[in-house]
Amino acid sequence: MRRVLMVNFGVFLLFCVGLLSTTLGQVSDDSDTNSTTAVYIVTLRQAPTLHLFQQQEAVTTVREQNHQGSKHGDTSTFTTPKLQPRNMSKSRYWRSRRSAISQAHDSLLRDALKGEKYIKLYSFHYLINGFAVFVSSQQAEKLSRRSEVVNIVLDFSVRTATTYTPQFMGLPKGAWVKEGGYETAGEGIVIGFIDTGIDPTHPSFNGTDASQRQYPVPNHFSGVCEVTPDFPSGSCNRKLVGARHFAQSAITRGIFNSSEDFASPFDGDGHGTHTASIAAGNHGVSAVVSGHNFGSASGIAPRAQ
Ligand SMILES: *[C@@H]1O[C@H](CO)[C@@H](O)[C@H](O)[C@H]1NC(C)=O
Ligand SMILES: *[C@@H]1O[C@H](CO)[C@@H](O)[C@H](O)[C@H]1NC(C)=O
Ligand SMILES: *[C@@H]1O[C@H](CO)[C@@H](O)[C@H](O)[C@H]1NC(C)=O
Ligand SMILES: *[C@@H]1O[C@H](CO)[C@@H](O)[C@H](O)[C@H]1NC(C)=O
Repeated sequence: MRRVLMVNFGVFLLFCVGLLSTTLGQVSDDSDTNSTTAVYIVTLRQAPTLHLFQQQEAVTTVREQNHQGSKHGDTSTFTTPKLQPRNMSKSRYWRSRRSAISQAHDSLLRDALKGEKYIKLYSFHYLINGFAVFVSSQQAEKLSRRSEVVNIVLDFSVRTATTYTPQFMGLPKGAWVKEGGYETAGEGIVIGFIDTGIDPTHPSFNGTDASQRQYPVPNHFSGVCEVTPDFPSGSCNRKLVGARHFAQSAITRGIFNSSEDFASPFDGDGHGTHTASIAAGNHGVSAVVSGHNFGSASGIAPRAQ
C-alpha cells in the first residue's frame, strides 16, 4: 500500500510540474555533513483543495436542484450529469487557495527547520495537502514530529515492469495471503471483460495452471463460448469459460477492417488479452518477448476464471 501511494504521488508530481513553485530553503552553516539527504513526500493533516472543492460542488448541486424543483414544481426531475467538471485552475478563488497552501508549506518548513538548508521541490494541493522536500534524515525526523504532519515517506525510483506488479502491490504478503495464497486467490470468481477479444492460446489462460491444477467448472456461469473459424472449438477451457463477439455494428457502419479485425472473439489487437491476463491470468507464466526474459507473470486474481 505504501508503495502504491508513492507511485500515485509520482504521477501527481508530473501533473503538478507547471503549477507549483520551487522554493529554496534558507541557507545557513552546513555543520550537518554526515546525514544522508533524500527526497521525502510529506503529507499534512489539513484537507487538500479537492476536498474543499467537492464540498462546494455538493452545496452548488443542492442549490441548483432546489431551484429547478421550485421552477417546475416537480422535485423528481432528472439531474443532468456535469460532463465538464468546473476547471479549478481557472478560478481565482482556487488559485488563491493553492497559493495559500503552498505558502503554508513554506512557513511550516521555515519553522520546523529553522535556519537549516533544504529544498522544497513541489507543493501538492489537489489530492493531498503536502509537499516534496530534499532534506537530511535528521530533518525528516524533525518534520515527522510536527503535529501538522500525518505521513512522511521516502521517494524512490521505480522501473516499468508489468511482471513485478503483484510484488509492487504487496500481494504475496497481503491480499494473496488473506485469500489462501496465489494458489487460491480469485477461486470461484468469473470475471467478465468487454474489450478487443482474447487470444485463447495464450499461456495465461491455459486450463491447467503452472502447479498442474485444473480449474473447477464454475457454479453459476451460463455464458456461451462461440465457435468460429478464428476461434475454433476447444478455444474455451475451464480457465477461459466463455467468449462472444459483437461486430455487427462495426460491420453495418462499414468500419470493420477484416485485415485487422476478427468477426469472432479472437483478439486482433492484443489489448483484451493483456487486460484479461492482468486480472485473471495464470500464476507463474514466463514472459519472454523477442528473446528477452521479463520474468514470471501473474494475474492479480490468478485463480479467477
Ligand atoms: C554518521 O551517522 C551514522 C549513522 O547515524 C553513524 O553510524 C556514523 O558514525 C556517523 N559518522 C560520523 C562521521 O559522524
Ligand atoms: C483549465 O484552465 C487552465 C488555465 O486557464 C488551462 O491551462 C487548462 O488547460 C484548463 N483545463 C481544462 C481541462 O480545461
Ligand atoms: C498448458 O499447460 C500444460 C501443463 O502445464 C501443458 O502441458 C500444456 O502444453 C499447456 N497448453 C498450452 C496450450 O500451452
Ligand atoms: C485495414 O487495415 C490494414 C492493416 O492495418 C491497413 O493497411 C488498411 O489501410 C486498413 N484499411 C482501411 C480501409 O482502413
